[in-house]
Formats: sequence, structure tokens, C-alpha cells
Amino acid sequence: MTPSPTAEIQQLIAAAGDTPRALRQAVDTVGPARAAELALAEIRTRLNTPSNPHPIRVGLRIEHDGYDTATDTTLTLTAGLPAEFAEGLHPECQVRVVYRLKDLVRELWGPDLARTAGTRRIELATAHDTEFPSRELQPSIAAATSTLIDALDPRSPDLGALALRHGSDKWGQTHWFTPHYERHFAPLRNAPVRILEIGVGGYADTDSGGGSLKMWRRYFHRGTVFGLDWFDKSALDGPRLQILRGDQNDPAQLDALAREHGPFDIIIDDGSHVNEHVRTSFTALFPHLRPGGFYVIEDLWTSYLPGYGGDDQDLNAPHTMIGLLKSLIDDLHHEERDRAEGSAPTQTEAFLTGMHVYHNIAFLEKGVNAEGGIPRWMPRAPHW
Ligand SMILES: C[S@@+](CC[C@H](N)C(=O)[O-])C[C@H]1O[C@@H](n2cnc3c(N)ncnc32)[C@H](O)[C@@H]1O
Repeated sequence: MTPSPTAEIQQLIAAAGDTPRALRQAVDTVGPARAAELALAEIRTRLNTPSNPHPIRVGLRIEHDGYDTATDTTLTLTAGLPAEFAEGLHPECQVRVVYRLKDLVRELWGPDLARTAGTRRIELATAHDTEFPSRELQPSIAAATSTLIDALDPRSPDLGALALRHGSDKWGQTHWFTPHYERHFAPLRNAPVRILEIGVGGYADTDSGGGSLKMWRRYFHRGTVFGLDWFDKSALDGPRLQILRGDQNDPAQLDALAREHGPFDIIIDDGSHVNEHVRTSFTALFPHLRPGGFYVIEDLWTSYLPGYGGDDQDLNAPHTMIGLLKSLIDDLHHEERDRAEGSAPTQTEAFLTGMHVYHNIAFLEKGVNAEGGIPRWMPRAPHW
């Protein structure tokens, strides 16, 4: 059976954080030409829109170290236009970037080691020519080279900039969520995380949406991103990004998809925002979150909207999202209360270890909630 691109990339991602021998074995297994092809597909997803006013041809040579072969590609970059990729090195490339395949795999998918140089050769075509490049062209050559190099760098722009670049509404206009995400997710950036976001976006329009999924893919350069939607959004499938179809209000479907693709390090609910749906998804998916992971619920404002099953009159209504969050505070402290004889802690009592609630967004942290309650010998009332 042919391995899926996801399986091949995950093999390379794992090896990119491992020993040279493990990396060599992974490249051997995937095959050097195929590994280079997957690297090029990754680079396509990461390239920013070029800013060089003069069209520039940048050659990218990926040397299959140990095999005596190479994958050559020419990128034509022009301000405001999508990059064009062509096989082979065009004889008139103004600059060539040369990588050894294993270095490139480490650079794209390995942990960010904050390297600044030393894994690639950069050859200005003019270094071999006698002619000095025209002053007019020099800034464009620099900008085009930088567009490619930026795409290879594991460090991405901050999440606010990424949200704007990919058309995610998590920053700007109505939501200001990205600093909260950055605060909680930054420690996970070097990990090969699995992320599930409920709600791809674009509703029935099969080609639109996916802005946040693309933002997560760039932010977590070793991650695999899954998007779940009621509508068919499979047109957005791509490297490290898999679209799933289903109803967030159907526990059996959620359990099945999580068994197949989970456990997840991060689950984000940005789907229908109907209170009942949010609660169903949380109950079904929280057990499929890894310890140390986060379950995020966006758009808490619909908790107060009767049209979404919310309630703006009874602030203690138990069926709303805010009602759920309030009850979770009690679950977090379950060890401080007497438990009914023989009853076992619930999922959230046993595994919810932290809650961070901001305006319109909540981060729920998973772990082992068993520090032990305050001992019985501690006075149960003020004793002074
Ligand atoms: C607000 S948009 C998601 C935006 C996206 N998360 C982003 O940040 O780019 C909501 C999406 O949820 C989907 N949706 C609505 N009800 C759903 C349900 N019951 N199950 C799964 N998806 C649903 C809609 O089709 C829509 O595409």
C-alpha cells in the first residue's frame, strides 16, 4: 500500500528532531526524490507574497546527499503575484540557494534551534560572472531571496500577522484572540502537535475558509492540523492539513474521528457557537485531549443569545457555555468537597487542571487533577 503524504511527512517530522542516523533512515524510507517533493510542497504553503518589484528567478537546488542526485526548481518571484515554480534550474537565475536534503528536512520540520546561518549555500549568479548586477536589480534580488529564506525558517511571524496573512478572524475586526493564543501556545511551538479546530469557515462555499487552519500550520511548523466542518471543505486539504467532515453535535461521530486522528494536543471550538453543540463537543472530545493540552472555546458571547440557545436573563443557567465554565470551576476543586460514597471523579474532575477565561474565549488545560485536597486535620473554620 502507498503511504499517505501525511504519514510520510510525519515520518520526516519525527526524524527531523532525532539523530542523524534516524534522519538518514527516514529519508531512505520515504525516498530522497519524494522527500524533496514534500519539502517543495511545504515551501509552497509557507511562501509569503513576494515584494520585489523586478521579477527575479531564484534557483533552489536540493542535493540528495549520499545519492549523487538533486532536485532542481526555479521560483519566479514578482511583487504581488503568486510564486511560479518550474522544474530545473533556469540558466538565468539571478541567485541560487543550495541545500543538502537532510539539512533542509531539519530546517523545515525540526525543532527551532535559532540557527542563523550554516545550513545552505547562497550563490549569486553574478559571483561567477564578470558583470556587476545592476543597482536597480539588487534590492529585488535581496527581497526575492529573503522571501524564499523566510519560508524555510521554522520561526514564523507572530500570530496576529499570520492571522492577517491567512485571513483568519482571530485577530482584527471583531476578535482580538491571538495574544491569548500566543501566551498559551508558544511553549508548544517546537512540538509535533496535533490540532483539531471545529469549524473550517466559509460555510457552504466549498473553496473558502481555512484561514485559521493555515495560520496554525505555519505557526506549528511540526504540527498536523485537522479541520472539522459540517460542509464538505475537502478542497482545502493539503500538506499537514486534513479536512474532516462531521457534525459537532453528534458525539458518536466526534468519538470516531478522535479515535482515528487523535489524541490531540489542542482542540479549538470555533464552529456553530450554538450552546448545546459546544457542550456536546466538549464532553465528547475532552477525553481525547492529551495531558498538557488545551481545549479552547471561542465566541462566549453567544452564551447570552437566546437565538444560540443562550440566556441573558438567568446568569446561572446551567445549559449555556458560561454555565459550563462555572461548573468546571467546581470540578477543578472536586478534591475539596466530600464525595458521595463509591462515586468516581468525572472526566473533568479528574483531568481539568487549569482555566483561563478571557473576554469571549476560554482556555481549558488538561492534566492530572490529583494534587490531593487540603488535609482533614486542617481546621475547617477560622480558629483564631
Ligand atoms: C465561524 S466559522 C469557522 C471559522 C474558522 N474556525 C476560522 O477561524 O477560520 C464556523 C464554521 O462552522 C461550521 N459549522 C456550523 N455548524 C456546524 C456543526 N454542527 N458541525 C460542524 N461544523 C459546523 C460552519 O459550516 C462554518 O464553516
